[in-house]
Amino acid sequence: MTFTPFIAVHGGVGAPKVFSDGCESATARGMALLSDGQTALAAAIAAAVVLEDDGRFNAGSGSSLRIDGVTLETDAAVMDSTGKLGAVAALQGFKNPVLVAEAVTTTPHLMLVGEGAMEFASKRGFAPHPGPGPLAHQRHAEVMTAMREHDYSDIPDFWRTYDFKSDWNFERPYDDVFAMCDTIGAVAMDAQGRFAAAVSTGGSAPMLKGRVGDSPLPGCGYFAGSEGAVVATGIGEAIIMKMLSKTVYDWIAAGTPVQVACERGVALFPDEIPVGLIAVSREGTATHDNREMPTHQLSLAAR
Ligand code: GLY
Repeated sequence: MTFTPFIAVHGGVGAPKVFSDGCESATARGMALLSDGQTALAAAIAAAVVLEDDGRFNAGSGSSLRIDGVTLETDAAVMDSTGKLGAVAALQGFKNPVLVAEAVTTTPHLMLVGEGAMEFASKRGFAPHPGPGPLAHQRHAEVMTAMREHDYSDIPDFWRTYDFKSDWNFERPYDDVFAMCDTIGAVAMDAQGRFAAAVSTGGSAPMLKGRVGDSPLPGCGYFAGSEGAVVATGIGEAIIMKMLSKTVYDWIAAGTPVQVACERGVALFPDEIPVGLIAVSREGTATHDNREMPTHQLSLAAR
């Protein structure tokens, strides 16, 4: 039996919708592999690499800086319905963390972190990270400004209760400054009906060194099984507490339509928590979020 391949990607629930052209390029790359008979895993990873290399998204080359303005730490993971799973967390210094995560699937382990992950990636010869670009420095400066404005420790009570959001007068929207959790992700189904997920992030901001979010954790930032694949984006800590991707996957596996499952997943969170989901099942792909995140979906039949 053969299936019509599908792919969906997102550029992060904190990223502006106008970045959707990057998502279109990523789905096109993934779909080229699917139409060539390659696996869902290969397609999801190829799409994730396009977004990691884009430079605008908070993953790979575009990763956000940690609070010190110097450190870049990335998390990434891949998983498919044949039982492959690989993840890296707090990885410093590599251009395509999702490829290092893929390499972890060739070891007996599921996740490598920190220095061990870096030594592994060096040994396997992965390309070095080009270093933070102007966008990473700009985002960092904005976070610092925002944090300074919210440092109420030395100022009167009036400031503690002041609602900056309602009077925000900067060009860049308040939510854009505070919702820097622009994970990228891809889900795919290939012609054999196999499902895969790939996810990569520079983390959310502000964050401490060593902080790990949902993205490398199976069942939290991603899940793939025999009935579909799901990837989440948003504030990692909130996503982890709900085991969001596995929760949504279980609904899909129980027969909930894929779009309804994504909507129900996002509805688990209050509005102030930015969250987004993409998913694929044999019915097709779906995306849903509570901001306006850049996404793109493609079916081989629709090309
Ligand atoms: N969702 C990405 C992170 O919180 O690290």
